[in-house]
Amino acid sequence: MLRINLAKSLSVLAWIAVAWMPANLPAQSAGPAVLQIKAGQVAAHVSPRLYGLMTEEINFSYEGGLYAELVRNRTLMEDSKEPVHWTLVQERGGVGSIALDPSQKFNDALPISLKLTIAQASGNQRVGIANEGFWGIPVRPNARYRASFYAKAAPGFKGPLSIAIVSDDGATTYATAQIGGLTETWRKYQAVLNTRSAPVSATNHLTITAANPGDVWFNMVSLFPPTFDNRPNGNRKDIMQLLADMKPAFLRFPGGNYLEGNTIATRFDWKKTLDGVPQRPGHMDDAWRYWSTDGMGLLEFLEWCEDLHMEPVLAVYAGYSLRGQRVAPGPDLAPYVQDALDEIEYLTGPAASTWGARRTKDGHPAPFPLTYVEIGNEDQFDRAGGGTYDGRFTRFYDAIKAKYPKLQLIATTRVTARTPDVIDEHYYRNSEDLMASTAHMYDSRPRTGPKVFVGEWATRVGSPTPNMSAALGDAAWMTGMERNSDLVIMSSYAPLFVNVNKDAMQWRTDLIGYDTLTSYGSPAYYAQKMFSLYHGDLVLPIVAQDVPTRLWQPSTPAGRKGPNGEPPATPPQAPPPQQVPTLFFNATLDSGTHNIFLKIVNRAAMPQAVRIEVGGLGSLDPKGQSIAMSAPSPDGTNSIAEPLKIVPVATPIDGLSTRFTRTFPPYSITVLQMKAR
Ligand code: AHR
Repeated sequence: MLRINLAKSLSVLAWIAVAWMPANLPAQSAGPAVLQIKAGQVAAHVSPRLYGLMTEEINFSYEGGLYAELVRNRTLMEDSKEPVHWTLVQERGGVGSIALDPSQKFNDALPISLKLTIAQASGNQRVGIANEGFWGIPVRPNARYRASFYAKAAPGFKGPLSIAIVSDDGATTYATAQIGGLTETWRKYQAVLNTRSAPVSATNHLTITAANPGDVWFNMVSLFPPTFDNRPNGNRKDIMQLLADMKPAFLRFPGGNYLEGNTIATRFDWKKTLDGVPQRPGHMDDAWRYWSTDGMGLLEFLEWCEDLHMEPVLAVYAGYSLRGQRVAPGPDLAPYVQDALDEIEYLTGPAASTWGARRTKDGHPAPFPLTYVEIGNEDQFDRAGGGTYDGRFTRFYDAIKAKYPKLQLIATTRVTARTPDVIDEHYYRNSEDLMASTAHMYDSRPRTGPKVFVGEWATRVGSPTPNMSAALGDAAWMTGMERNSDLVIMSSYAPLFVNVNKDAMQWRTDLIGYDTLTSYGSPAYYAQKMFSLYHGDLVLPIVAQDVPTRLWQPSTPAGRKGPNGEPPATPPQAPPPQQVPTLFFNATLDSGTHNIFLKIVNRAAMPQAVRIEVGGLGSLDPKGQSIAMSAPSPDGTNSIAEPLKIVPVATPIDGLSTRFTRTFPPYSITVLQMKAR
């Protein structure tokens, strides 16, 4: 019979913290490690929001990524001089030209159009426009693509136009539709393109052509494949499924640096991302150096949350941009504070409120759930003149708490004038050892301050997506976050996505990779999925003995250069080598089902025997399961070509008892699921 003693929790946690400081570890160990799990005691509660997602427009995460639009530069705003990603089609002697035409504005938000001049076309000659897509247009058999565009024509030209998906060699038209009746005023035209028996390919483009002379202007040319849950203006099915499989509790959006922009003008200005997509001006994502049409606007972020049952964690712009533009925490900040209040009302306000009414008009009458609001992003970089974050945070804090006292407010760095509910901490480590060596850092953190949101973290080994070495570092780190989940209430890896096509990657280690056709999860993705899917609500204390260690030499810091870039005056010293554990672990209990989840990370090159003793319960069901992921080498990884090379494997196990020994393979992450009786 399982009885849980909550009273013991704090003293046991403190003991574990002291026992696991890496400096206290023995140099070497012999024989099996011993883990005594105190199943009748509770060290901490596991936060129900521990595992979530963080996202921003980086590495072509939305445009050319999750957001399923296939036409690149659909609004012609990407370059003010050239219709980039568009080309002229001239077939069988047809003659024409294309150009941006600022004299024919589409609307106030999109004040330009693409002019097609057809000088010569008759018989089977064709002239038109072609869009190259984001590294091609993906084609799959029996898919129905939604095509649409806005167009107007010079007097006398009525079409018809052919819209088609065509192979890049021009030899094959995979799907086509006819559109006629063009007029001299802007109108939307739509068609369904059915690929029927077309083979799978990505080397295709979209064309709109005509066979008679005249002038036509275009804007907002769009092509959507079938989307997740068939949502109009929706998301790519395969990538959404990878995310859904992680069962994330929340989504932190819209950034990251993408929230801040390089300048105030290029921040994520949410009010400009509402309305229908043809009314959105888009903006330069100068933090990551490419244009966003803002098809992924505020409402789309929220619908993404809704589709995957994630709670939104809303980051509001807080008056600081990356190139050091800042708004002083006085009257100048008031409009930005009001903007945040409006944004919160857009999410949560009743339909009768101003911004709740706007949400209703945009198609979503029901308010969204909201518990956490983050004020800014990485405001520790606002250092000039002592920094302004304390003052800025205070203004936002006071205004939001006055109107929404139940909202929990997240600070992005230390503040003193107010006490935030939560602090967002970011950890990017460039080696597995570095990540693993900090896996115990929260064990000894005093519980007197704000809760912690590890809003960005990653072991940055492997590119474009992390390899098994990174997954081992991540898993070691996650045992620490989970063990300390009374303090670390939320966590999200970053960045989430990378388009692996040439020149798309901007950040070298990203959780999920994709190209034009397919996507895959890295070993780090699968490690997170294991942690997110298999955990209970209570952390069980573990007393450990004979945990093996290895000697690790941390890298030498680069040292501070002189004012003119000269080498450091005193060469930096190599830090002393450290003994670091090679085994990491945590145990949780699901108090409803009485399942115990023991996570073991063996980051060593050798198999590791572990004696597991489960105390504080009557017995264990002899049957359980092991969910394990391992690789022959830490360099092992997944890719577009080998998406499932390293994945967790679930195996039933038998013969469990309250004392047993099990051997864990080299470079492995394992969850043992055992049922207490
Ligand atoms: O995740 C990439 C970037 O790292 C984020 O935009 C920023 O918040 C952090 O510096």
